[in-house]
Amino acid sequence: METLTVIDHPLAGHLLTELRDARTAPERFRSLTKRLATVLALEATRNLPWREEAVTTPVTDTTGRRIAGRVVAVPILRAGLGLLTAVTELLPDVEVGYVGLERDESTLQPTSYYLKVPDLTDATVLLLDPMLATGGSAAFAVELLKERGATDLQLVCVVAAPEGVALLGEQHPDVHVITAALDAQLNDVGYIVPGLGDFGDRLFGTF
Ligand code: PRP
Ligand code: URA
Repeated sequence: METLTVIDHPLAGHLLTELRDARTAPERFRSLTKRLATVLALEATRNLPWREEAVTTPVTDTTGRRIAGRVVAVPILRAGLGLLTAVTELLPDVEVGYVGLERDESTLQPTSYYLKVPDLTDATVLLLDPMLATGGSAAFAVELLKERGATDLQLVCVVAAPEGVALLGEQHPDVHVITAALDAQLNDVGYIVPGLGDFGDRLFGTF
């Protein structure tokens, strides 16, 4: 299976351009993130299992589809929270877990400060983190979730760097990445270029 999907949709491009704009303030940034997350979540749920179900319309009997199986969304704190509401609105029955990770600004290594997840066995797990930079945070989160039984994982992000895609692909080739953009590279302090800056700070106004 292809491990990377870059969304090619004018609406995704439009929303991302405004997110990238350094003048976009937190309130607008949150609203754009939620709308873009809806587009990303639609792609991430494309292959959810479903079963046929009989339905009676006002006109006749027919068959439709119903999603079968559990879906667990796991935002990586903090920035992943920006993607969560779109997922819970699209999938009202989704279960939600949380992974708290923080990247050390000098070593770029992530440390874990929180983990609370439901049973992950037999669930489709949507890991939510808008920025895939070195890939260290995503790879660490995937490791933690696999230790808790996850076998079917997708990473939903907004901007990915080639370095992060490569690291995740090496360490977890089974994890599919859905992103709105594959950017050029990382800079020497680990930020994605052109990127959009520090997603968590822009989402929560902590500059
Ligand atoms: C950011 C981002 C990712 C991570 C990506 O989080 O949300 O989790 O950096 O970088 P990496 O791919 O190099 O690991 P950060 O650690 O800044 O925490 P925050 O979400 O709390 O701001
Ligand atoms: N985390 C962010 O929020 N932005 C980057 O460019 C890299 C990591």
